[in-house]
Amino acid sequence: MQIDGKTRLYGIMGKPVSHSLSPAMHNTAFHEIGLNNVYVAFEVEEAARALDGFKALGVCGVSVTFPHKQAVIAHLDAIDPVAEKIGAVNTLLIHNQNIQGSNTDWIGAMQALEMITELPGKTVLVIGAGGSARAIGFGLREKGAKILLANRTQSKGQALAEELGAEFIPLADIADVRADALVNTTSVGMTPHTEDTPVPAAVFQNVAAVMDIVYSPVETRLLRDAKQVGCRTIDGRYMLLYQGVAQFELWTGQKAPVDVMRSTLFDRLSQ
Ligand code: ATR
Repeated sequence: MQIDGKTRLYGIMGKPVSHSLSPAMHNTAFHEIGLNNVYVAFEVEEAARALDGFKALGVCGVSVTFPHKQAVIAHLDAIDPVAEKIGAVNTLLIHNQNIQGSNTDWIGAMQALEMITELPGKTVLVIGAGGSARAIGFGLREKGAKILLANRTQSKGQALAEELGAEFIPLADIADVRADALVNTTSVGMTPHTEDTPVPAAVFQNVAAVMDIVYSPVETRLLRDAKQVGCRTIDGRYMLLYQGVAQFELWTGQKAPVDVMRSTLFDRLSQ
């Protein structure tokens, strides 16, 4: 890759950010398509000052990660309607001093889920009520799925269920629920607590397809339990991949080279 006077700058803002796999994934994709773009990591303390800096320097696009996904919203010139409903932005598109905020987390999650199930008219059981559950819940609404929501803390679960027009299910009752798909949006089962699972294995008797957003380990206990009774499963790497694919396409207006993005991301995750 040759950086020159015409190279366009992209990046990710977060804190911490040095562990991010997005630079590797996006730079491989830029290179594959032959775009004179480069993507770097910005460790950012204050979202507002960073956004001013991006405008001033002509940065073209930025991924937004923890802890800035909500904080950037107050400083945008425009926000897409789904990102506004979710209340979180993970993508900035910057053009002529104008910053537009979008959310591709829900797009990535829906694309991953659609690898194992159809969504319109289907019933999806969502476990959790945090930021990831919001993105996935509003994504499922966009897709016309019926949502059941279960969460450890009832008040938080009920509040999100109400916003989503979903039915709240107490965690204790979920073994009796029938659903086309189940999505774990909590971090339960993540390394080093790899024997933990948010739901009893009995749940999978009544569910056809299961997605976990946890990607370390790739095969969580939840996915292992689900596979054991024949559920179709999809692991957390695919949501990560497809949220990046959607960012790439927003920024470049070109079809993303998904195969090289997948192999770069999955190779790094297995290191
Ligand atoms: P994020 O923004 O990444 O989604 P979060 O806002 O911390 O993360 O939300 C985490 C979700 O995982 C919450 O729904 C949380 O349940 P509570 O609302 O009861 O806190 C859920 N969660 C985290 N640890 C859990 C555990 N050990 N068992 C069950 N649910 C858990």
